[in-house]
Amino acid sequence: MDPAPTLSALRALQLERLKDSIARAYAGNPAYRAKFDAAGVSPATITSLDDLAKFPFTTKADLRAAYPFGFLAVPRTDLVRIHASSGTTGKPTVVGYTQRDIDTWADLIARSIYAAGGRPGMKVHIAYGYGLFTGGLGCHYGAERLGCTVIPMSGGQTERQVQLIADFAPEIIMVTPSYMLAILDEFHRQGIDPRASSIKIGIFGAEPWGEGMRKEIEDAFDLTAVDIYGISEVIGPGVAQEYADTKDGPTIWEDHFYPEIIDPETGAPKPDGEEGELVFTSLTKEAMPVIRYRTRDLTRLLPGQGRAMRRMARIRARTDDMLIIRGVNVFPSQIEEQVMKCPHLAPHYLIEVARPGRTDEMTVMVERRPDASDAACAADMAALTARVKDIIGISIAVDLKPAGSLDRSQGKAKRVVDRRPKL
Ligand code: DLL
Repeated sequence: MDPAPTLSALRALQLERLKDSIARAYAGNPAYRAKFDAAGVSPATITSLDDLAKFPFTTKADLRAAYPFGFLAVPRTDLVRIHASSGTTGKPTVVGYTQRDIDTWADLIARSIYAAGGRPGMKVHIAYGYGLFTGGLGCHYGAERLGCTVIPMSGGQTERQVQLIADFAPEIIMVTPSYMLAILDEFHRQGIDPRASSIKIGIFGAEPWGEGMRKEIEDAFDLTAVDIYGISEVIGPGVAQEYADTKDGPTIWEDHFYPEIIDPETGAPKPDGEEGELVFTSLTKEAMPVIRYRTRDLTRLLPGQGRAMRRMARIRARTDDMLIIRGVNVFPSQIEEQVMKCPHLAPHYLIEVARPGRTDEMTVMVERRPDASDAACAADMAALTARVKDIIGISIAVDLKPAGSLDRSQGKAKRVVDRRPKL
């Protein structure tokens, strides 16, 4: 569909597709049928978009319980591809795609790259991991679909990343923002000026990142950095994409994914503008439709900017990333925001939580910039401690590490080490 339908055309299309998606989940998947029957709902329940709220949620636990192929709504032989999200514990979540799903996904990534300013004929360096992770292959097919020349680099081999960027001169890079910072370090190490690089557009996602990080990367490389959101269970990258001309949060491709925000505690729907957990219902997926899938991502729905499709605010955190430190809720992104305000500290950090006695203690490990003086770093550390106390309400220790010493990510960054005893 044209990404700029009128609101009434969009809502009519969503309703028609929603009916179809729920009917396919019900007819094709016994797990959905059992859940819907138990809740007293069926495809006939959907007469308006509001009726969706009568349906039960789907969670990662539901998918895991059906591991590996029990959540399909088509015969396994109709799948042309499988991806899986690693998950921190236990079994991965498996997702399957029919040929039509792969085509839809490629179209949405093509649309996303276009919204980011990409055009046919440009070269796209893809440094998201290839393999079971959806980032590499998902972006790959979409960049080809747009008519770009793809450089399928995958994650890792940082020295080679820089060499190939210098040699092949891509206009676009698709990578996690934290790995982009590792690539930046390598530019400096090789004595290459990143601002002179060919890259003009960075399409960054797969992990939370804030405005401070955007500015850091844009200034360092002289490029436009935009946010891409996605989640394997819903399709992969390309569920929502930020437009380069407005840079005001990702526009959700609502003709394929219907968003809701709910209260994560009660499950009650929340109005647009209020923060809560993001829930998606797929409207066109064949192999694995998701009905009211709980992403665990915290955000708000925002009005479209001259478009019917709504935007989402940057993901603030995942519900399961929340740290409770002496009774105060803290998200890693809040710490990041404050670290990014320190001019003499590098944009790398690691949060360590421990319980040496009876109380929790948080240490934020930061890194000095190579040219920063001891006095400048000390001033930044004092300011960081004071701001975290004032704004978030907790006392932290700040541990200054030498330049280049914190582990660099090659994909999604690990921001927290929790050393507290498990209860
Ligand atoms: O990370 C898909 C993806 C690949 C998105 C490449 C963007 C680019 P999963 O591994 O299933 O899928 O992880 C999904 O990553 O629920 C969020 O918590 C987080 N996430 C993804 N994009 C963003 C973003 C891919 N732009 C989980 N900002 C999601 C913040 C993000 N968090």
